[in-house]
Amino acid sequence: MPTSGMSTTNDVAAERRALIDAAREWGYFSAGVAAKAPMFHGRRILDVGMGAGPHAVAYVESGAASYVGVDPHVGSDKVRDFRSWSDPSIPDYHSFPFSVKDIERLYPNVRLHSGLLEDVAHKAKEHRPNLAMLNAVTEHLRRPDLVFKAIWELLDRDGVVWADHHNYYSWTGHHQLPRNVASWRRDNPAENAVVDWKHLEPAHPSYNDPNFNRVRLEDLRLIVAKYFEIEGWRCSYEAVSRMTPEIRTKWRKYSLAELLTQTVVIVGRRRDVPLDIDFKDRQFHHPDESYQSDRDYLNEDMTPFDLDNRVFFSNTGEVGSHSTNNFAGLRVFDRLKAGDTIVVTKLRERYTFTVAEVVRREGASASLRLAEPVPEPLRTVNYSDWTIEV
Ligand SMILES: C[S@@+](CC[C@H](N)C(=O)[O-])C[C@H]1O[C@@H](n2cnc3c(N)ncnc32)[C@H](O)[C@@H]1O
Repeated sequence: MPTSGMSTTNDVAAERRALIDAAREWGYFSAGVAAKAPMFHGRRILDVGMGAGPHAVAYVESGAASYVGVDPHVGSDKVRDFRSWSDPSIPDYHSFPFSVKDIERLYPNVRLHSGLLEDVAHKAKEHRPNLAMLNAVTEHLRRPDLVFKAIWELLDRDGVVWADHHNYYSWTGHHQLPRNVASWRRDNPAENAVVDWKHLEPAHPSYNDPNFNRVRLEDLRLIVAKYFEIEGWRCSYEAVSRMTPEIRTKWRKYSLAELLTQTVVIVGRRRDVPLDIDFKDRQFHHPDESYQSDRDYLNEDMTPFDLDNRVFFSNTGEVGSHSTNNFAGLRVFDRLKAGDTIVVTKLRERYTFTVAEVVRREGASASLRLAEPVPEPLRTVNYSDWTIEV
């Protein structure tokens, strides 16, 4: 497919189309990229830890002004093929039909650099990036302090950082199955070995996995805050229902926010001057067991975390799941069928309905159609933040 030597404008356009097709086929034009488009539209992106490179195509084709990516995997034959998620016959990683040089030639506004950002940041100054993105990367960093420092140095004055962090201290750790309580296969020994915070035991195989850090949430926040004014720190909670008094007592040295947060979406605005914060006594990669073990969070209030299964009513009376709660309500919908009874509550209010249909539409999240008419206030003024019980 890629050509060499002199190319005409038509050749370049045809090659670009073929590259776009390949990136699309491999799953790089994902819903996640589309959802972020309003944030990166017209921006000069610095993508930290983006893998081998094809993400660049999706971002510039979806409106980014330019794109600089840095990752040790740039130039490798191990390129993520997202089709493997749905098709087991496709390997997770293999050779992409276009090289890094092809991508950079076809997109002069794209540059891809191999290496850890903290080591090769000096190469990544092209295009004066003003938006840094770390998508599922912060949990992999050995030196998050150096990475955020490098980002601060690279970003333009009005720069913004966006990160999607997967928290080790959550119910099953990061990138482990089951991802949530609803999908837990209780007859699966591998899943049973991680659920309910078992990975927090130092003897657990995940505990010292060098590919993942165990950065404490508070420490990550401190690192970001040193270089960026934090404008958003949005946590998605998981497994509130699994937090028994025994587990709470056992892990009392961790706050509830730390134990219940599965992912955090972080948005920060670059400071003109970093704050004077000293990281001397901080341990960011694999903190010792004794690190901050004198803390005691046993008496924290659980109420603010009890957000699981929040749903809303549409004006047509269907029940949907709040995106701000990581669509937690969908976990309940997945278990429902026509004829089931649901109860929705809010403080002292309580309604019982019968499910007429679990509506699954392509490209949209599921919703519930109810057999009974939905009272008017639930469709108009009092429609959000209901808790569904089944
Ligand atoms: C889970 S992958 C995420 C890939 C990509 N962001 C995505 O969403 O598909 C994490 C990536 O971070 C990269 N990485 C880890 N430490 C890094 C560092 N210090 N600088 C740049 N990339 C790094 C790894 O090589 C890996 O490709």
